[in-house]
Amino acid sequence: MLMINSKFLEPACLSVMKNVEKEILLFITFEGIDGCGKSTQVERFEARLKKAGIPPLITREPGGTETGDAIRKILLHLDGESVTPLTQLFLYEADRAQHVTEVIRPALDLGKWVVCDRFYDATTVYQGIVQGQGEDVAERLNYLSTSGLNPDITFLLDCPAEMAMERIKIRDGTTKKRDMFDKKDIEFHRKIRHAYLSIAGKHKDRFKIIDASLSVDEIEEQIGGKISPYLIENDSMS
Ligand SMILES: Nc1ncnc2c1ncn2[C@@H]1O[C@H](COP(=O)(O)OP(=O)(O)OP(=O)(O)O)[C@@H](O)[C@H]1O
Ligand SMILES: [Mg+2]
Repeated sequence: MLMINSKFLEPACLSVMKNVEKEILLFITFEGIDGCGKSTQVERFEARLKKAGIPPLITREPGGTETGDAIRKILLHLDGESVTPLTQLFLYEADRAQHVTEVIRPALDLGKWVVCDRFYDATTVYQGIVQGQGEDVAERLNYLSTSGLNPDITFLLDCPAEMAMERIKIRDGTTKKRDMFDKKDIEFHRKIRHAYLSIAGKHKDRFKIIDASLSVDEIEEQIGGKISPYLIENDSMS
């Protein structure tokens, strides 16, 4: 089996390489405002891939390693006021450096598909654009912390901030604790949505914008439609 390690190549090279690879290998990320339904869809997506005979590695940011889980606790469970945006930026990048080295990169090297619930686009959007640390600064740190690793496909789950906040209210009324971003006002979440759409517009080759105002099943179908060509390709090669 020919395995070509294509994750550090520029997108233009990547598409050429994919044609000569014997096995399609993908790194997929899910992004979107808090409460838009990322984790719900990651779960559905995992089931779909398993059914297609491609059991993926599922991971998330922040977290995914022991170090990352410790960083996650600092980031998400302290009072937001005590973690400045600059501190947040470094903590997310520290988490990512560990996560890429320890989890994502080794899985890709073993030929696994990797699905990550948030990745570096979240840092560009939250800390870089909306919290004012600079889009270019965030992108440079992203490059350092990932050693240049880029997702092949990023699903941006897009819905109005009000709708996502309603979903969070219902969710938190049942089990999950609110994190510090959930407590911020609606305007913050609107800015996050706008910033995500802005970077999606700059990276059209990688981003697939999904209408997340639909039902869970309908969103799953949209995502399934975008991924099915890759599943067919994999199938025809087995
Ligand atoms: N399409 C949908 N329609 C209605 N409710 C949904 C939809 N998708 C997810 N939900 C519900 O909305 C809540 C938030 O979903 P989920 O936890 O998947 O979002 P998330 O984007 O992962 O949130 P966070 O950013 O906090 O991690 C959950 O209670 C989930 O069951
Ligand atoms: Mg989630």
